[in-house]
Amino acid sequence: MREERMDEVTHRAAEDNRRAWDSFRQQRDEGLVDIRPRFTREMAEQFWADTTDGVSYLTGEQIAELVGDVRGRRLLDMGCGDGDELLQWARLGAEVVGVDNSPRQLAAARHNAEQLGINPQLVRADLLDLPEELLQGEFDIVFTSAVTCWIGDCLAWFRGVRAALTNGGVFLLNDPHPVRHDYFAEGPFVHRSSEPTGWNPAGHDITTVIWQHTLATLVTAVGQAGLRITHLVEHPGDGSIPACPGGFTLCARRV
Ligand SMILES: C[S@@+](CC[C@H](N)C(=O)[O-])C[C@H]1O[C@@H](n2cnc3c(N)ncnc32)[C@H](O)[C@@H]1O
Repeated sequence: MREERMDEVTHRAAEDNRRAWDSFRQQRDEGLVDIRPRFTREMAEQFWADTTDGVSYLTGEQIAELVGDVRGRRLLDMGCGDGDELLQWARLGAEVVGVDNSPRQLAAARHNAEQLGINPQLVRADLLDLPEELLQGEFDIVFTSAVTCWIGDCLAWFRGVRAALTNGGVFLLNDPHPVRHDYFAEGPFVHRSSEPTGWNPAGHDITTVIWQHTLATLVTAVGQAGLRITHLVEHPGDGSIPACPGGFTLCARRV
């Protein structure tokens, strides 16, 4: 039997995962999933009030150290989802563009942005097949959070990151820490189910394809893509796994 090429695997995975994210988002918008639904005006005001000078795992101090002042700088959020971090970056003054391949996630991001009076450019695209307009070396910062498990070919992805960045531009890769998993089991793990679960209460027939990349895989791919790593910041965990970090941020520059 012919072995599947990596681009065939990643293409199929992207389509399965897009359907899964659309389904999850739909159920979340319908109020079936017990986590934050789409913003109402009041929730948006609360989000703004709760937003600090940090973004996700990163404190304001860490952002200042890794990237400096973000005001007026162009930032691309790869896998922006419903815009949680994208909107926090906008709040800090960055000119933000979000890209995601799930139309429902992007619709949620648009809705949330509108509630906050922000008008980001949102692009529907696969991270392994980005439109040329995003690959012109025009972004000062490329940010991504909680996305690596959805992408099989990190080297191809990070080559796109490099092409999107200006010379000297900064890549911030934010993720749950991989030591939280069975460390050397990298996948891909294909899971098909129509059992109702917390994320899929309606029991849609869903297939997900995920990877658990090691830090070595990610660091090597970032380096091979032509980015120079300047920092690796490990963030404390919540104690749910004793003595285990919660997440990490890898910071690299296009040189
Ligand atoms: C866990 S969410 C993270 C969203 C956001 N960055 C955050 O941290 O809240 C993962 C996002 O990646 C998107 N995604 C997964 N695979 C993708 C792909 N191949 N191309 C573009 N987006 C993808 C999903 O649609 C989803 O919105």
